[in-house]
Amino acid sequence: MNQGKRVGIVGAGNVGATVAYSLAMLGACHEIILRDNKIDIARGKALDMSQAASAVRSHTIVTVAEEMSDLSDCDVVIVTAGSPRLPGMSRDDLLMINANITREVILGVARYSPNAIIIMVSNPLDAMTYVALKESGFERSRVIGMAGILDSSRMASFIQEKLGYGGGQIRASVMGGHGDDMVPLPRYSTVAGVPLADILNRDEIDEIITRTRNGGAEIVSYLKTGSAYYAPAKATSIMVEAILKDTKQIYPCAVFLDGEYGFSDVVSGVPVMLGANGAEKIIEITLDDAEKEMFRGSCESVKTLIETLNKNNFFEGE
Ligand code: 2OP
Repeated sequence: MNQGKRVGIVGAGNVGATVAYSLAMLGACHEIILRDNKIDIARGKALDMSQAASAVRSHTIVTVAEEMSDLSDCDVVIVTAGSPRLPGMSRDDLLMINANITREVILGVARYSPNAIIIMVSNPLDAMTYVALKESGFERSRVIGMAGILDSSRMASFIQEKLGYGGGQIRASVMGGHGDDMVPLPRYSTVAGVPLADILNRDEIDEIITRTRNGGAEIVSYLKTGSAYYAPAKATSIMVEAILKDTKQIYPCAVFLDGEYGFSDVVSGVPVMLGANGAEKIIEITLDDAEKEMFRGSCESVKTLIETLNKNNFFEGE
């Protein structure tokens, strides 16, 4: 039973609201609290979702935090706040704008929900997870970035499209940062247990890898005024469920590395075990030389962003 569980969501835009809707439909928690600067939008969506929850006999209520202080004593807080990624804009362009927004939000979360597990969704994802960790002062198991589930789901969906069969039986694996150099791992991807290399040729697999890396941009190119939200939101709600239900299931998530995979002082996507205490365990899988090189490249990209934050004295005085 998850009665009494409170989930805060900062940013009630497309991603935040869709996470809330997904959790409300599941009855995953007792209360979902939406926080957004556009307070009337948050009020309207909260009412609408509470009514939808009633329709499916879910016990979840959706409310609004009028002030940051109303986001109190949450078990999980999801941060989607940030400037959206617009066409032609890389995730990295968002760095300084969203770092400042993240800092302000996280200081409030740390103050009013000091025991929460934070799930970061804002882009650039890995750098924002790093900022959230540093600004909150929380232990690393309680600050987790969403992206690996999203990127793996995209890869699985492209595999299904390419094959024309296997839907629901595909396990795709993507590690590394949520950037253009993410690390799709065909060697760890299967269809009903069958290795990908046994059913697709090298060119087909390469095509899937490229499309996975561009998965977010492909959707932006169609939507024009915004980015994807159904899959990002569902991926987030899967993480929240695993934490609230203490399932101890393994999912790819962005966490601070402290020696794992040979990297430190950086956030990257790796398989982690999710439970009531957040990212309770980091799993180190064996990578071959080419995979290691791609993972290194991805970590270096995130480190470059962190260096940019440092050069702009972002963390100064802490
Ligand atoms: C995505 O991958 C924009 O990062 C977001 O859809």
